[in-house]
Amino acid sequence: MSDKPLNVALLGCGSVGSQVVRLLTEQADDLEARVGAPVRLVGVAVRRLDAPREVEVPEGLLTTDAESLVAREDVDVVVEVIGGIEPARSLILRALEHGASVVSANKALLAEDGPTLFEAAGKASRDLYYEAAVAGAIPILRPLRESLAGDRVTRVLGIVNGTTNFILDKMDTSGAGFSEALEEAQELGYAEADPTADVEGFDAAAKAAILASLAFHTRVTASDVYREGISEVTAADVASARDMGAVVKLLAIAELSDERVSVRVHPAMIPRSHPLASVREAYNAVFVESQAAGQLMFYGPGAGGAPTASAVLGDLVTVARNRLTGTTGAGESAYAEREVRPMGETTTRYHVAIDVDDRAGVLAEVAQAFAAHDVSIQTVRQEGRGADAQLVVVSHQATDAQLAATVDRLRQMEIVRDVTSVMRVEGDAE
Ligand SMILES: NC(=O)c1ccc[n+]([C@@H]2O[C@H](COP(=O)([O-])OP(=O)(O)OC[C@H]3O[C@@H](n4cnc5c(N)ncnc54)[C@H](OP(=O)(O)O)[C@@H]3O)[C@@H](O)[C@H]2O)c1
Repeated sequence: MSDKPLNVALLGCGSVGSQVVRLLTEQADDLEARVGAPVRLVGVAVRRLDAPREVEVPEGLLTTDAESLVAREDVDVVVEVIGGIEPARSLILRALEHGASVVSANKALLAEDGPTLFEAAGKASRDLYYEAAVAGAIPILRPLRESLAGDRVTRVLGIVNGTTNFILDKMDTSGAGFSEALEEAQELGYAEADPTADVEGFDAAAKAAILASLAFHTRVTASDVYREGISEVTAADVASARDMGAVVKLLAIAELSDERVSVRVHPAMIPRSHPLASVREAYNAVFVESQAAGQLMFYGPGAGGAPTASAVLGDLVTVARNRLTGTTGAGESAYAEREVRPMGETTTRYHVAIDVDDRAGVLAEVAQAFAAHDVSIQTVRQEGRGADAQLVVVSHQATDAQLAATVDRLRQMEIVRDVTSVMRVEGDAE
């Protein structure tokens, strides 16, 4: 035990930061015992001194001068929960330069410019931990970085955005359309007034980049991630998934095949028997497949002030212990330098709904369009008659490029009135 306190500077005191202050205050004794020294909050940087706060920040700690706070000689750990790229990046770099270790929850920054931060941490021989950046309270980054360090991860499938999972779950359980489900999510506080970052998959793409980097020991940034959101998912898609024993989820997928990495975020149908299908409402889960361990699932609340603060505090305790013993944890592991596979070469199965003329020979012509691009068909179902006739085709594995060419061809065919839905199918949905 040391009497010398570990000094913590907090950047941001919003949803997450206020809960960090609360836990640091309420659990001070336990934290001291676990770390081996008192953990003392020495400053809290915010944008507005007079904004209402969810916690009472101890007298004299609030400041708007984040730059000076991170450069203080007596600060051991800087916790960054401001969010966004700047000034968060400059403040983290400055903190490392001045000898502090850093804990951050900032997925956007880590996915956009993680390597710059890791290099600065390495150069300064300081820790940079960021468990809270992906899936809130769920411990997933440390298991990938440490527990599975002796295994070979082959695939990571994640439901890493609570807003979109809530919306898709509503669509599945109530038959609602996207707009109606989004409105309900907004009323209940699960979606922001401007929901773009969530519903268009930007938030999940940042998390996919972070997961892929750790899983495959390769630098993957947000710009490497193929991204499609859920705003085009219709009630008919969801019903069609249901008919084949599946459910629609927004998945963040990172895969290793032929030593190349594929990283993508898009809605997909997964069988109801898949563990991820049971992830309801705004919960998150990450499903990991690895060579020796097999299949693992990590599940829990993926957002919210207190759950996210739990992950931040976990990092803080680890970083503080390392400080006391004069060590650092494992830094960035990007030795594998694997190539990122272009989306067109990524293979998966597809569900395609096609409005067709209801007459003899249509099925053969549609099958021919798939065959022309070497896309083999697993099942075909006809729904409706006359003007409502629709064919629902599920393909075997094909590349994105093959499928796109098939859909182009279908759209040009006289017997095809419209291709109403194209959705990827993950897992073994029938
Ligand atoms: N909320 C979640 O559920 C959740 C989950 C996982 C990860 N995260 C991540 O955690 C981080 C924080 O999220 P949050 O929801 O807590 O955000 P938030 O509620 O908007 O809080 C942001 C805080 O940062 C302060 N701030 C903003 N710009 C600043 C600047 N230039 N200098 C100093 N302080 C500044 C704000 O000050 P004022 O209060 O004075 O405006 C506010 O206290 C983000 O990176 C987010 O992605 C959040």
